[in-house]
Amino acid sequence: MIKKCLFPAAGYGTRFLPATKSMPKEMMPIVNKPLIEYGVDEAIQAGMTDMAIVTGRGKHALMDHFDMNYELEHQISGTAKEALLNDIRDVIDSANFTYIRQREMKGLGHAILTGRELVGDNPFAVVLADDLCINEEQGVLAQMAALYKQFRCTIVAVEEVPREETHKYGVIAGEPLTDSIIRVTDMVEKPEPGTEPSNLAIIGRYVLTPDIFEILENTVPGKGGEIQITDALLEQAKNGCVLAYKFKGKRFDCGSVEGFIEATNYCYENIYKK
Ligand code: UTP
Repeated sequence: MIKKCLFPAAGYGTRFLPATKSMPKEMMPIVNKPLIEYGVDEAIQAGMTDMAIVTGRGKHALMDHFDMNYELEHQISGTAKEALLNDIRDVIDSANFTYIRQREMKGLGHAILTGRELVGDNPFAVVLADDLCINEEQGVLAQMAALYKQFRCTIVAVEEVPREETHKYGVIAGEPLTDSIIRVTDMVEKPEPGTEPSNLAIIGRYVLTPDIFEILENTVPGKGGEIQITDALLEQAKNGCVLAYKFKGKRFDCGSVEGFIEATNYCYENIYKK
């Protein structure tokens, strides 16, 4: 069973400036719930209990969100508004939250390596909270945790994207094992247009085996001078097994304005109003 879930949340969120100048991107609300809480809900639904959050400067709001706010609770105690806190209270009661700071923003791979202290020598999930995943029945992490039980290796969630969008993602190639599972043989971070190995883009959900940490320690900065998780995963794929999984559900890139608006409209109609 995978118990730990790592949330790299130290990025600057430059695509959403000025909103993210002093507010963590992960605290931006989709309707009335911050992105990070959707991610934590998904991890809890997958049976995970330990939420490890990689933070950076100016990210205090993340810690405060998963803590009691006695003044506020006292103020609304006994009123109709109290019910609005029920969900977050349940979340706080259902999981342990730990935090570590990434001092320099050296990329997603580096953020994951920073989380090593919190994750230890265990397989663990990774959620990039700005990718909001919605599936009515089984959440995407629960689908991946079930696959991990079967295959016991690293799994990355992938989605088919239009070819002209592949330059924004890590893109995989490999041998199909089933309709939805591919054994990864190649992986390119943000390929130049026309050089992409497929149209299967890695999105912000991973299950990683702990040997990834040693690989990350030896991964040199790649695209953009950042330590790329894609480079480490390709190394892992060469020596062992990395699977790509075409998940069931919808994914919204809430790190972009368009994706954020789409997610807001979708969640308002399909979750909030129901
Ligand atoms: P992004 O590529 O979305 O970068 O990072 P970003 O800084 O958050 O946003 P933009 O592109 O500037 O708008 C993917 C994920 O990796 C985390 C981010 O917080 C996000 O969840 N990350 C990235 C880190 O935690 N540390 C880093 O050094 C880089």
